Amino acid sequence: MNIVLGITGGIAAYKAPDLVRRLRERGAEVQIVMTNSAEEFVTSTALQAVSGKPIRSNLWDKEAEAAMSHIELARWADVVLIAPATAEVMARIVSGGAPDLLTTICLATEAPIALAPAMNRVMWSNLATQANREVLEHRGIHIIGPGIGSQACGEEGAGRMLEPDLIAATVFNLTGGKGQGLLEGKKVVVTAGPTREPIDPVRYITNRSSGKMGYAIAGAAVAQGADVVLVSGPVNLREPPGTEVVNVESAEEMYAATHAAIEDADIFIAAAAVADYRPVAVVKQKIKKNDEAMSLELTRCPDILASIAALDVAPFTVGFAAETENVVEYARGKLEKKNLDMIIANRVGRDCGFDRDDNSAIVLWDGGEREFPTSSKVELARNLIELAAEHFYAERGSETQPGLTVITNND
Ligand code: C5P
Repeated sequence: MNIVLGITGGIAAYKAPDLVRRLRERGAEVQIVMTNSAEEFVTSTALQAVSGKPIRSNLWDKEAEAAMSHIELARWADVVLIAPATAEVMARIVSGGAPDLLTTICLATEAPIALAPAMNRVMWSNLATQANREVLEHRGIHIIGPGIGSQACGEEGAGRMLEPDLIAATVFNLTGGKGQGLLEGKKVVVTAGPTREPIDPVRYITNRSSGKMGYAIAGAAVAQGADVVLVSGPVNLREPPGTEVVNVESAEEMYAATHAAIEDADIFIAAAAVADYRPVAVVKQKIKKNDEAMSLELTRCPDILASIAALDVAPFTVGFAAETENVVEYARGKLEKKNLDMIIANRVGRDCGFDRDDNSAIVLWDGGEREFPTSSKVELARNLIELAAEHFYAERGSETQPGLTVITNND
């Protein structure tokens, strides 16, 4: 695949060399086109070294144009990816102007265009930027991200450029190219977020899950080339690009949606914080506060994870154990009781686990365990997916891991 990679002047440009490597690992030829301001953040020397091609930046560079004109470059591209994409380049593309080489290529190409925005959270949420995003999406331009989390400017929110691995995988998925991920051709179903168990038309029981861990896991599985169905409770997150998201509210809805998606799944990862109990009956009208005390009768919700693990043809099944105490002991108990292939144990409380951007975990399986110290949920998710994939191939021996030659003994 021929990729024109546009790099614009955001601080996330420091991740561009890594992105080039991820694209090339997947077999792409990468021709970099930088804007002048991008050169303030990353050197063309570094980019030339990782891309193996001279960097283009000037529309009026006679020698470079003679070798391959901007029109030829626009034709050469199977995809034009701009990462990081600033608010400024989004606005320039919306306007249809072509004041520099990169925007000229965007106008002159018939290839799909994808942008990975990266900017301060206020710039991203600014109505002008959001209006531009809408116009671009309406014109069929793919917007990859941005992610949510801590920003270079010290703020927290939406506007981070997504991880290079995820951008690379998404670009290959968008354009139908073949990637080389560990989970190429495999289907992964992930549950994420909390559930809401209705009490009356305006009230419900829920929990503090933000969905960030499950969304990061779904993104990491996409980055490894999997087809991912993400069954999500109500959260305030952008859909991970490349996933099929099924939105649900209650545990029963999540149960039904997960079972509907599971039939041909290879791996199931239950990251949702599903309610254990729900009100027996949903009161039809808003309950009035007439009495000093009231009680709610609760009944057990279906255990989605246990029900999937118990299927006749069960996928490789991974659960989470979010505990406030005796984390490893409780998790091992669940691994055995629910008959799981693997369980990811983590401590939760006011200062860890739920609704944060970082997390630590101990992963347990029959006869082993591995500890992951605190890192961002995105990085932890990448490690967890790699470990799950490794065990999936080890346990389901008939599956062939991409990139591995399996030698069978047929005596
Ligand atoms: O038994 P416990 O709720 O502690 O187990 C946690 C694991 O089980 C998590 O992976 C969670 O997603 C899953 N679970 C589920 N359905 C439930 C309760 C928990 O899938 N009703």
